[in-house]
Amino acid sequence: MWVIIGVVLALAAGWVAVRIDGKRNPRPMAMRWEQFFLDNPVRRRFFGPAVVLAHLGAVRGLKIGEIGVGVGVVTEALTVATGENGKVWGIDVQPDAVRRTRRRLGRAQLSSRAKVVVADGTALPWPDSSLDRIVMVAVLGEVPPADRYRVLQEVLRVLGPHGKLVITEFWPDPHYIAAPRLAQMVTRAGFRVEGTLGNRWIYTTVAIPWKRSAPNGH
Ligand SMILES: C[S@@+](CC[C@H](N)C(=O)[O-])C[C@H]1O[C@@H](n2cnc3c(N)ncnc32)[C@H](O)[C@@H]1O
Repeated sequence: MWVIIGVVLALAAGWVAVRIDGKRNPRPMAMRWEQFFLDNPVRRRFFGPAVVLAHLGAVRGLKIGEIGVGVGVVTEALTVATGENGKVWGIDVQPDAVRRTRRRLGRAQLSSRAKVVVADGTALPWPDSSLDRIVMVAVLGEVPPADRYRVLQEVLRVLGPHGKLVITEFWPDPHYIAAPRLAQMVTRAGFRVEGTLGNRWIYTTVAIPWKRSAPNGH
């Protein structure tokens, strides 16, 4: 019994320490931790691609950009969901994330329907008005606050006329951003929040651009 209490307390203390550190100094999670935390049965059951896809709605045939692919768990599901006529473009700042995601897509024989490259969300490698959806799952909290506006401006630039930004956040991600704060951020950057689905443990905010950014983000 004491062992269990000790383990739970140690995990809670570890989480608090990572949360405080993540708030002071936001940065991408190390890949070994990403693999462990993002690609396991608990994640898939409660915070996984199925929930993200349910919140995202119909995506068949759409062109989707994913910022922060991690180990590709969501990327793979998005690629399957968009079908043969859709396409997924993914980026991550960590080359190892891109490698792992490409490997995953290769194993699932989806490489021809998804293109994943190393890039930073502050300089998206996609043309103006070229995508139908931009998806970010548990990413914005890892971007330093000073860069978040820039990322959202880039999203404005690449979204097409009927495009939508779809952001999913889930607890206990130590970089979790609460829904009201996220809504403030996206609104300030030029989006209108269309709706927020889910609950406080996992939610998805769907936002529509109301302000067009200038071509190439200038
Ligand atoms: C917590 S992981 C989530 C991965 C994936 N979205 C998922 O839910 O399985 C966040 C990912 O965002 C990436 N990331 C953080 N800041 C980024 C930035 N500025 N541009 C692109 N990717 C970024 C990290 O490298 C990391 O792989």
